[in-house]
Amino acid sequence: MDLTGKVSLITGSTTGIGEACARAMAAAGSSIMLHGRDEARGKAVLDDLRGQGVDADLMLGDVADPAFCRQLVDTCFARFGRIDVLVNNAGILPEGNAPETDDEAWMRCMQVNVNAVFFLSRAAVEHMRRQGSGNIINISSEWGLNGEQGFVAYCTSKGALMQMTRCMALDHAQENIRVNAVCPAEIHTQIVDNWLASADGDPSENLAKLASGIPMRRVAQPEEVAACVLFLASDASSYVTGSGLSVDGGNSATGGPYPG
Ligand SMILES: NC(=O)c1ccc[n+]([C@@H]2O[C@H](COP(=O)([O-])OP(=O)(O)OC[C@H]3O[C@@H](n4cnc5c(N)ncnc54)[C@H](OP(=O)(O)O)[C@@H]3O)[C@@H](O)[C@H]2O)c1
Repeated sequence: MDLTGKVSLITGSTTGIGEACARAMAAAGSSIMLHGRDEARGKAVLDDLRGQGVDADLMLGDVADPAFCRQLVDTCFARFGRIDVLVNNAGILPEGNAPETDDEAWMRCMQVNVNAVFFLSRAAVEHMRRQGSGNIINISSEWGLNGEQGFVAYCTSKGALMQMTRCMALDHAQENIRVNAVCPAEIHTQIVDNWLASADGDPSENLAKLASGIPMRRVAQPEEVAACVLFLASDASSYVTGSGLSVDGGNSATGGPYPG
């Protein structure tokens, strides 16, 4: 997969799936605009990429702020002269059923997981239209396709992302701008470690329990999601738009509890 000459902006690329995407896309030849809030982690990734000769930069800020979303996209364009790929990866995983989810938690989830993706994508499309091409990849979730108990805000936000993906893919299909989603599940990152640590019981036993319910009987590494993002970012997927690519060890194929 070749991204030589391309410029990619990946939100939430200071760690986890976003960092893996940034590294995979850089290895394929893309210039990289990193983003996140944690300065130390962001700088570590930036220094490492630059050390490998990658043309990369980092912008820190909260995507819950609509003005910042515009600023991030415009800064990327100003710094690199174009924006070919936007990976909307930054996201949060609030837990709770409806009575457990207060107004603030609900609003924050929608701001980060839905509104920011819209504000970033809208700003990017303006540049992509002028360029005559572009590619947007939204990191949704298996829980954007199926429901899950105890995560009403998160599942709603990721479901909304699937509809945003389809609608924007249709709106921009004739402008050489592709829009797709990736739907991961059970990827071993901080977001999952935090959740395992907050659940009852021993985190490593909880992790093993989690793996036992997956058809492939293991959780995945962030690099396995990044490889799929790279496919969607590249010309190898030139006829793919409006799709959701499941990266979930078979979870979404089961349609019900899988025998553990
Ligand atoms: N891991 C999974 O099993 C899984 C499954 C399905 C979907 N996903 C989705 O995949 C995406 C990445 O998840 P991950 O597991 O890699 O999570 P992670 O390790 O927690 O990383 C999340 C990234 O998003 C950034 N971020 C979060 N909130 C932000 C905000 N308000 N403003 C700016 N940056 C923000 C973080 O930046 P800082 O730390 O620098 O603040 C970090 O770089 C998320 O959208 C998640 O919903 C993950």
